[in-house]
Amino acid sequence: MSRIEDQYDAYPYPERDPADEKKRLIVGSPSHPVEIDHFVFGGKRDWTKPFRALVAGGGTGDALMQMAQVLTNAGRPYEITYLDLSRSARKIAEERARVRGLSGIRFETGSLLNAEAYGPFDYIDCCGVLHHLPHPQEGFNALARALAPGGGIGLMVYAPYGRSGVYPLQEAFDRLLPGSPKERLKAARQIFGRLPEGHPFKRNPNLGDHEQGDAGFYDLLLHSQDRPYSIRELHDTLAEAGLEVTGSPQAYAYDPTPLLPDPGLLVGIDPLTRMEIAEKLRGTIKTHVLYAAPKGQAEGRVAQPLPAAIPHFKGGNAAKVAQAVAKKGVLPLTLEGEKAEVPVSGAVVGLLRHVDGRRSLAEIAAAERLDQLGFAALWNGFSRDLANYGLLYYSTLLR
Ligand SMILES: C[S@@+](CC[C@H](N)C(=O)[O-])C[C@H]1O[C@@H](n2cnc3c(N)ncnc32)[C@H](O)[C@@H]1O
Repeated sequence: MSRIEDQYDAYPYPERDPADEKKRLIVGSPSHPVEIDHFVFGGKRDWTKPFRALVAGGGTGDALMQMAQVLTNAGRPYEITYLDLSRSARKIAEERARVRGLSGIRFETGSLLNAEAYGPFDYIDCCGVLHHLPHPQEGFNALARALAPGGGIGLMVYAPYGRSGVYPLQEAFDRLLPGSPKERLKAARQIFGRLPEGHPFKRNPNLGDHEQGDAGFYDLLLHSQDRPYSIRELHDTLAEAGLEVTGSPQAYAYDPTPLLPDPGLLVGIDPLTRMEIAEKLRGTIKTHVLYAAPKGQAEGRVAQPLPAAIPHFKGGNAAKVAQAVAKKGVLPLTLEGEKAEVPVSGAVVGLLRHVDGRRSLAEIAAAERLDQLGFAALWNGFSRDLANYGLLYYSTLLR
């Protein structure tokens, strides 16, 4: 067994107790079906057709639970394949699915490098895995080969600057601590307790996994294989695999404009270099979450606010957004420690009560007796701003 298999067998990640499935559903990015529809299928997937998905490196099953439960609740057909090297992680994922009474899942133990053999897939989730492979490019390539025509991928990989302080500790622990995962963890915790307060890791408020139990500590600080990607490196790696980005629920983070005294400083700088500059100026991005499609097929994948589009708020709570806006005329946000405000006019607040994941923009306009042009003038700027923060999506999931 390789060291990485040892790690995930000893500390299946993330640490989950199947009994908790009775109390809550963990939702997040990537891979909420509404978000997938928005970034991969133009917000208009035909959900009466079975959704064939792969969860590559599924761990203890967070993305699997989210996809399968949301689709089950919506009464949509699906066939989801869970694939992971770790048998103990799979056991937990299987038990979580059993507690939830979910069906339509195929559990497989194996490497995502063989993903094609299980496919093809309309959608592949790969969250927190590719940066742990000995040769990550092979993983990106393998997933690209497993896609069905028209399919797409939702990814999360680590980013360097927001994880500042992690890598010196990983390297020192790697050099110092041989032995079993349990012995390494015990010694690393002792050393960690002695680190000076000025260590960049201790100064980094963006990191908290080490406080989430043994598996979290191990995954963050004792990983034997972990390489972060700058946004440029990630784009290059995707291109090598024949993929390109469709969009990201954290698009705002790659826009340097709010940090500049003069937007004219960006004149003549290409879009990817602008993103790279934003990543460096922010310094807080610790993961990249994005959706990708085969090269040449990314155009038109992200949903647009057209009359037939059906809007959803992230978390489904239009009333909460309206309430927050009603107080100040702006939607206050805190993202990775950064505060932002999205201005929202009173006329838009009046539209929010119609956003229920079922009504289309045309129907909302009609309910407010607005013609398409008048509605678009109110809605489109708001829609663009919220989509930029990953807070508004379009999807036919519930229709
Ligand atoms: C950090 S965990 C992430 C788990 C899950 N995707 C999540 O986001 O909660 C990484 C997982 O990838 C699995 N893994 C690592 N290399 C793999 C490979 N080549 N093929 C399949 N799974 C792999 C590990 O066993 C582990 O369960």
